[in-house]
Amino acid sequence: MSKKILVLPGDGIGPEITAEAVKILNACRDAGLDAELEEALVGGAGFDAEGHPLPESTLAKAKAADAILLGAVGGPKWDTLEDLSKRPEKGLLGLRKNLNLFGNLRPALLYPQLAEASTLKPEVVSGLDIMIVRELTGGIYFGQPRGIEERNGERVGFNTYVYAESEIERIGRVAFEMAQKRGKKLCSVDKANVLEVTILWREVMNRLAPEYPDVELTHMYVDNAAMQLVRAPKQFDVVVTGNMFGDILSDAAAMLTGSIGMLPSASLNERQQGMYEPCHGSAPDIAGQGLANPLATILSVAMMLRYSLGEPQLAARIERAVGKVLDQGLRTADIAYPGTRQVSTSEMGDAVLAAFAEA
Ligand code: NAD
Ligand code: IPM
Ligand code: MN
Repeated sequence: MSKKILVLPGDGIGPEITAEAVKILNACRDAGLDAELEEALVGGAGFDAEGHPLPESTLAKAKAADAILLGAVGGPKWDTLEDLSKRPEKGLLGLRKNLNLFGNLRPALLYPQLAEASTLKPEVVSGLDIMIVRELTGGIYFGQPRGIEERNGERVGFNTYVYAESEIERIGRVAFEMAQKRGKKLCSVDKANVLEVTILWREVMNRLAPEYPDVELTHMYVDNAAMQLVRAPKQFDVVVTGNMFGDILSDAAAMLTGSIGMLPSASLNERQQGMYEPCHGSAPDIAGQGLANPLATILSVAMMLRYSLGEPQLAARIERAVGKVLDQGLRTADIAYPGTRQVSTSEMGDAVLAAFAEA
């Protein structure tokens, strides 16, 4: 049966980068992928058109889709909305929560051609291949109570960092299984020297470990992990952590690969339905200028083919095409350096398309 893919361009550079990824998706359809594409509004675009960052019609289409491709949401235009539930980011969080997309995979892989693009020394990053497994539907992002209220004559803001054992266990299993398929090393990142919720996190990871005897489990505090990521990132294979730590560490890991414009992601639920998006945001500072790097979004399409559409060969073909384009010296501004040729967002997308056709 034909697969359903929902495309949600969103805001800022979102429409520019998803347009390039859709070109590749269409090329995959020409190459035999049996899929239908549909588009809908989310984020600020959803709010402007329908008064809500996650319109009901968009949520219904998302639930019915096999896979979702999302650009990015948010921007200064909506940052002052008083009603926090109407902010663009709530649209994204609502999709993740409603579809139960608890397993977020963020692969920080350095393409060898980009060793010079990283702000770190080539010898520190060359050969880098880390998979960050981030819990995505719990933790401090969703814990109750939360709010801003008046207490003793002043306002206080508060959030709740909470994880149930069952939530820790299911993300732990995703991470252990990922480690089994890769380098068999799993580092669980927490703050168990201070926070009870992560004492429980560490306990659950330790309890699961004997079920995966081929995986070596280690633990690290998040502050040290941030430091180790820039000191000696190749010590990591799979990293598992909670929602907020994973958000922060994955942006840091992105820079190891040359640019946040290179980091794709998959967000999966228990039945492998997935949302695929670059890890970066809507980049208002460069929106509308043809400067955005579309490769993270294009590589997110490869993840979609691998994890939700059962097409690993097409996925590998996209990844090879990206490698070829980098071999040709083509670079968007964020990964350009002397000796390479700077191209626009759409020129990069077209180059990947041409390389895909030959791959
Ligand atoms: P950002 O990721 O949008 O931008 C950070 C920096 O990285 C900027 O200088 C930007 O130009 C650059 N950058 C990002 N993507 C790029 C790309 N593809 N090519 C080249 N350069 C790129 O983060 P921010 O500035 O903190 O946030 C901007 C908005 O995006 C906010 O409203 C935020 O809430 C939202 N946001 C959305 C998502 C998402 O939709 N998944 C993720 C992060 C941030
Ligand atoms: C990300 C983003 C989101 C997050 C925001 C926009 C809600 O930063 O996907 O990394 O914090 O999860
Ligand atoms: Mn983020």
